[in-house]
Amino acid sequence: MDYKLAKTYLEERGQAHLLKYYDELSEPDKSQLLTDIDNTNFSVLKKLDKAPKKIGKITPIGAVTVEDIKRRRLQFESVGLNFLREGKVAAVLLAGGQGSRLGFNGPKGTFNIGLTRTLSIFELQMNNVFSVVEKTGRYFHLFIMTSVQNNEETVKFFQENKYFGYPDGLIHFYIQDVAPTCDFDGKVFLDRKNRVSLAPNGNGGWYSSLVNSGLARVLERENIEWLNVYSVDNVLQKMCDPAFIGATILKQCRCGAKVVSKVSPDEKVGVICNEDGKPTVLEYFEIPADLKNKTKKGELVYRFGVTLNYLFNVHDLNLTLSGRLPYHLAEKAIAHMEDGERVTPCQPCGYKFETLIVDMVKYMGSCLAYEVERDKEFAPVKNLTGNDSVDTARELLVKNGVKL
Ligand code: UTP
Repeated sequence: MDYKLAKTYLEERGQAHLLKYYDELSEPDKSQLLTDIDNTNFSVLKKLDKAPKKIGKITPIGAVTVEDIKRRRLQFESVGLNFLREGKVAAVLLAGGQGSRLGFNGPKGTFNIGLTRTLSIFELQMNNVFSVVEKTGRYFHLFIMTSVQNNEETVKFFQENKYFGYPDGLIHFYIQDVAPTCDFDGKVFLDRKNRVSLAPNGNGGWYSSLVNSGLARVLERENIEWLNVYSVDNVLQKMCDPAFIGATILKQCRCGAKVVSKVSPDEKVGVICNEDGKPTVLEYFEIPADLKNKTKKGELVYRFGVTLNYLFNVHDLNLTLSGRLPYHLAEKAIAHMEDGERVTPCQPCGYKFETLIVDMVKYMGSCLAYEVERDKEFAPVKNLTGNDSVDTARELLVKNGVKL
């Protein structure tokens, strides 16, 4: 795209301010800016009309509960183990987030959760990967999604730690796609005079980014049928859990979600339920108050909170590829150019556009809610202290016998 074309293109979209510093730039910087403009997906800005989301008829969803699993563990496990031994399951670690609440300057997985020794979140998770490999006798492919901002540091960390002993040929890093950021009036920010401000497009971008990176060829070549996707920030994460895989397959579901019973109606986790008869996940702020508080026999009716550990059927995932996943607006503090200076606000000053993995569930048509014991499998590290923090995660790790 040349300058003239860019100018017309941006004027048509109300974004001509992106060329504000163009005349001051060197030739390489000019060309960088024009490339950024060419690569920017301005269509996400349509989301700014902020029409309230329409929610259909909500009904509770059944789950395979902790008690059910105790009774049927052997049966579930034997199916899951077979799929793992045949190499039909791979894992995807979501590590593209910016971890702004934790306020740690580096990829979240590199955070040292140890007290008397160095123990990164990545190492903890890789230990759990190894416990599956010990059971199956076979390594699985592990895809790790990073972001433009943290890819280099993440890859370097794995290299320096010799991939924690895992075969490096089975670890595939890929960078998550981006979307522009903008102010509250929809004007796209400049990150630098010559750079459009772009941010990771939310955890719902994990599959399209994997395909765009060219890694779908590994899925095809290896006949991988199922992908277990999980977040970096749950330090009790059990990935490629044979019983979870087996239960989802035996129940003939196209996707599975590990869930926990919520501790209170107001706990900030997405809740799995049916919407117009189809499984879906509602964000904690989307659940109408009467449903959120509804109880039956002393139990919350909508009590299954998702833990960001999903199993997806690869064939069905392709249904989510046609750009149908909606973008959500997230109010964030975004560094940007203002009057010739780069400012780093502490308060939200605009929007990031994010797709969410929870929105993928409804495209799958069926989803098994698989209840796990929260004290054994759910210790999210979102904040430094308080709820879902480094402190609460450390407590749970110790309870589970991990030496910190
Ligand atoms: P969160 O929703 O907690 O976001 O991510 P975050 O960016 O890590 O943290 P905050 O909100 O800024 O404090 C849940 C999981 O999804 C991944 C994260 O790495 C984490 O594993 N994620 C999130 C991505 O991979 N990409 C994204 O764009 C967002």
